[in-house]
Amino acid sequence: MDGTGDFDHYPISEQIVGAQLGDRWVSAAWSDGLISRFHHVWLRDNCPCAACVHQGTREQTFELLDIPPDPMPSSAQATGNALVVTWPDGHVSVFHAGWLRAHGYDTPSAASARTLWDASTLAAPPAFDGPAVLADDGALYEWLIALRTYGATLLHHVPCTDSAVGDVASRIGIVRETNFGVLWDVWSEPDPVTNANTSLPLPPHVDLPTREYQPGLQLLHCVENEASGGLSILIDGFRVAAALRERHPEHFATLTTVGWNWANRSKTTDYRWTAPLIVTDHTGEVVEVRAGNWLRAPLVDAPFDQVEAAYAAYRAFFALTYEPEFAVTFRLEPGDLMAFDNRRILHARGAFTDPPGEHRRRHLRGCYTERDELHSRIRMLERARRASAAHANL
Ligand code: OGA
Ligand code: ZN
Ligand code: ZN
Repeated sequence: MDGTGDFDHYPISEQIVGAQLGDRWVSAAWSDGLISRFHHVWLRDNCPCAACVHQGTREQTFELLDIPPDPMPSSAQATGNALVVTWPDGHVSVFHAGWLRAHGYDTPSAASARTLWDASTLAAPPAFDGPAVLADDGALYEWLIALRTYGATLLHHVPCTDSAVGDVASRIGIVRETNFGVLWDVWSEPDPVTNANTSLPLPPHVDLPTREYQPGLQLLHCVENEASGGLSILIDGFRVAAALRERHPEHFATLTTVGWNWANRSKTTDYRWTAPLIVTDHTGEVVEVRAGNWLRAPLVDAPFDQVEAAYAAYRAFFALTYEPEFAVTFRLEPGDLMAFDNRRILHARGAFTDPPGEHRRRHLRGCYTERDELHSRIRMLERARRASAAHANL
């Protein structure tokens, strides 16, 4: 948008009614009474003018090293719709009030976009109508917000074709191809290359823990199912990690610090990775689980004196996943599609028996995409809403 450093739309809900120039920051006073502080260096860094930001790409041409480490404005003025900051070399930075309000960093940011769940708080994954999601951006948005919040969702009435799972994934973003292809089959076959394509039970797992970068999202679409058994189970891995942290802090500490070995044993590929089963970020928050019983490789990368502790911690985590308090169980019927965060949600299925006849057997179609695609799509849908609101107000 004009006057900002990007292409988004920023309705001005509050005016800037005052600006006070301090030693290290400018305090902006808003019409609703909020005061927000912006450091001088932050303001200089974020100047959206044509000398600092390429107006075609909206990417910086400004480099931090071009200015002194402690820039000091010569003045700061509130004009209602903008904050105008002038620098000693004559450079003028005009900050759009809507943009500045949206980028305030003085108060702690809102609560996490995630809601952790267990069987007592989520009886079934939030469900949405597949054809509506395919056709309508409003329905798409509601589904994606639930996917971001709970990490697990269901769509009903998705057309039972081989390509539909790709059509649904493309509503989010770019599909991630793997050694299983772009879209793949899950069914029991005579010469399987993975335990997934047997009728064996699959214990709680994420897909492709063998990869440095595990897919962020997985979609599984049931196109046929007259099998007995084969129930689906979803478990919030972050909720289990939180329970482990509370009940067995020593096992939690082991699982976040000791790497497990993962490998796909295949005649044609040899993917391997070593990483902790629970990954925390720089704030200590759990951001990833990595688990898949049949993809465990011999544990060779754990320090020798941690091997037994690693096994004990692994057992403690998986014992929790088998507690009914965490698992949501349901049967996938033709037309159902489950979409989930593959680095948060553990999924499992029961053993099954196909009925006689090719066309009635349990058959899922699957694909992967990424959390990044989800978050970008949500932001673009929100941007489109702001654009049409701005248009309506003209
Ligand atoms: C898989 C898988 C689930 C199912 O293929 O990785 O988890 O219900 N399948 O068959
Ligand atoms: Zn500038
Ligand atoms: Zn799986």
